[in-house]
Amino acid sequence: MDKLTIRGGHQLNGKIRISGAKNSALKLMAAALLTDEPVELRNMPNLADSRFMARLLSTLGVDVYWPQGDSTCRLNAANISSTIAPYDLVRKMRATFNVLGPLLGRIGHATVSLPGGCAIGARPVNFHLDAFEAMGADIVIEQGYVKAAAIRGLNGAIIDLPFPSVGATEHTMMAATLAKGTTTINNAAREPEIIDIANMLKAMGAKIEGEGTSTIRIEGVDKLKGVSYSVMPDRIEAGTYAMAAAAAGGDVLLEGAPAAEMTSLLEHLRKAGVTATVEDNGVRIQRNGARLKAVDVDVQPHPGFATDLQAQFMALMTVADGTSTITENIFENRFLHAPELNRFGADIRVQGKVATVHGVDHLVGAPVMATDLRASVSLVIAGLVAEGETEVNRIYHLDRGFENLEEKLNACGARIERGADTE
Ligand code: EPZ
Repeated sequence: MDKLTIRGGHQLNGKIRISGAKNSALKLMAAALLTDEPVELRNMPNLADSRFMARLLSTLGVDVYWPQGDSTCRLNAANISSTIAPYDLVRKMRATFNVLGPLLGRIGHATVSLPGGCAIGARPVNFHLDAFEAMGADIVIEQGYVKAAAIRGLNGAIIDLPFPSVGATEHTMMAATLAKGTTTINNAAREPEIIDIANMLKAMGAKIEGEGTSTIRIEGVDKLKGVSYSVMPDRIEAGTYAMAAAAAGGDVLLEGAPAAEMTSLLEHLRKAGVTATVEDNGVRIQRNGARLKAVDVDVQPHPGFATDLQAQFMALMTVADGTSTITENIFENRFLHAPELNRFGADIRVQGKVATVHGVDHLVGAPVMATDLRASVSLVIAGLVAEGETEVNRIYHLDRGFENLEEKLNACGARIERGADTE
């Protein structure tokens, strides 16, 4: 297993090009199952997770052409040979569960392993299953597998989500494109990735309106066609590098960063004393060395502050002037980075869903352990500001979601090396 060794204390100056959004790309890949015509995805992030989704699609019979180093992935689901997504593939990456809806919509049945919990919380899939049942699917859970069937096809239905779940909104929307009649999703999630997915589905011939609002209406069609589509830029990657630059100091242009989808984060950064300027080709982040101010964060569904940026903001607040409280309202266990950040000399206390961060004067490099994707990158941010050397172990989590992380940061003056883990 690889580790990263970071020599802290170097400012970041230069440009970072933002990659395609992981959390959109994974679902766009699953959407290729909805048509028997070729789907071409451009601006694809080359990540462990997107490669993993490609592997699952191959096992279902999808013809996948995606050479290493190529940002275009070609998928052709003309001949689906299996509708079974096995435990080994779903367990390692939850987003693979999202092949269930497209398979149900197109083929009328699917057997997909239940994903199980993960480090950040229990993460059940009951909203997804309730939606498919409301659309007429018969669902049984046997030996850890969801067996779903809608032999005469899915029917449009009114789906009232108990919480604006991103995954359940996307999954229901995809399946509903091929259902008979109209599906209405109330209390839908409003994340930008949902708009991206709707845009691709519409380019394939789907009839969708209201994406990006709390009510989405989908009128089912008989068939979807192939498409060539460019994945939206990754607002979470962009936000992460914005915080890396804010923490380390310097002047970094985040090329292609989707400023309109980063409003909450940019407001928080400005309150903390960072200069964040929206430019034609991205977002510029500047900090001139003055100490950051503590700012409170209340994590909420979009357009609120994103849970996927919470760990990174906490890393930033460890060295701010004053005390900030960070409230996590989406996942029940998403503070695993707090004890690791404390190993750098940070002063963070967690009580339930609230973390109180008392800013300290400086951090000191330490060996630390990555626990999940966004937690891992918060440790990298801490390593960039800490005095001396930091070792981040178990970085396979990072490789799941950040394309060329050390190359991008080192090009701006960071000192990060990849090597073999000590474990
Ligand atoms: C997506 O997860 C993202 N993953 C997550 O990013 C992100 O943190 C999350 O949305 C919130 O923005 C992908 O897109 C692959 P939810 P998802 O359904 O869809 C509860 C990352 O680091 N819930 O919006 O799984 C759930 O437990 C990842 O890139 C149910 O109770 O999130 C959670 O508390 C991590 N029943 C809340 O809703 C359900 O059936 C929101 O989850 C579904 C969800």
